[in-house]
Amino acid sequence: MESVAPASAAQSVASVIENTRIARDTYRLRLAAPAMAQAIRPGQFLMVRPGPRGSSDPLLGRPLALYDVVRDQAGQAIAIDVVYLVIGRGTAALAERGPGDDVTIWGPLGNGFGRPPSGSVLFVAGGIGQTPFLALGRSWLGTASYGADDSIGVADSVTLLYGARTADLFAGLDDFRAGGIEVELATDDGSLGHHGYVTELVTRRLERGRPPSLIVGCGPVPMIAALARIAREARIDCQVSLENHMACGIGACFSCVAPMIASDGSTDLRRVCVDGPVVSAHAVAWDQMT
Ligand SMILES: Cc1cc2nc3c(=O)[nH]c(=O)nc-3n(C[C@H](O)[C@H](O)[C@H](O)COP(=O)(O)OP(=O)(O)OC[C@H]3O[C@@H](n4cnc5c(N)ncnc54)[C@H](O)[C@@H]3O)c2cc1C
Ligand code: FES
Repeated sequence: MESVAPASAAQSVASVIENTRIARDTYRLRLAAPAMAQAIRPGQFLMVRPGPRGSSDPLLGRPLALYDVVRDQAGQAIAIDVVYLVIGRGTAALAERGPGDDVTIWGPLGNGFGRPPSGSVLFVAGGIGQTPFLALGRSWLGTASYGADDSIGVADSVTLLYGARTADLFAGLDDFRAGGIEVELATDDGSLGHHGYVTELVTRRLERGRPPSLIVGCGPVPMIAALARIAREARIDCQVSLENHMACGIGACFSCVAPMIASDGSTDLRRVCVDGPVVSAHAVAWDQMT
């Protein structure tokens, strides 16, 4: 997975088309942003600042993954959707925005996912970590294309294993199913799906002799670290999209570094905003991740 030049990112003001609550504390924000919508690829993200250009509170943008693009009747990408969980000041301010309000965005940022493998693919999401997987699944199944990439997908099937603390936090289940992605759920409290961790669903599938060609994970560090361990033991290729805290999003501040294992076995701190957020799970020094 390659670094991207931050120069590819542009800052602009985008108008809110809608900002709809789709699950507990979770919103889908639709922004009129044609240039971004035509360029962004699955796994890339944008920085979103809740106010228009010139506003200073909050000063820093918040990184949010591409959820999907919206197209007009001619198929031209004209808007982007992001889905976010309200956890702190920035996302709470974003939840206050309504149709016609302006927000500041910059991107597309990060490397994004690569080409699909042949065979079956397993997505594993925890918490709000499902957001990169709608566009990725549609792309890898060949039902949608993003950015300049008009190649058709070759994955035979895509399954999303999705874990949340409790049922009302699941967001976008209908979107994934409509996108041809099979969905299996797990909740910590047993309110829906498997009662337990989403990684137990992974183990169960592998025990039944159904190894995928590739596992892709996104979610809290303990979950993706456990996923990386399971994939390594099963000798399955595994990519993860990291959600480290970010201040600039363009490689300038080093607030987002993650410990990566270099080819000589040493550990190197890499900037997730430019060297990621998608990285090989087997290259992360998980014992040093905070
Ligand atoms: C590449 C990337 C893509 C992301 N995509 C999405 C997405 O699609 N949807 C979504 O809801 N979120 C996503 N996130 C996480 C999102 O950026 C944070 O939740 C957001 O920045 C929090 O901002 P805040 O102002 O609401 O919270 P803050 O006020 O900044 O923080 C509130 C609390 O949450 C903690 N916190 C903040 N950010 C994180 C984080 N990244 N991981 C763990 N704890 C954190 C803080 O330490 C603090 O305790 C993504 C992150 C990255 C790096
Ligand atoms: S967020 Fe500033 S270097 Fe990555």
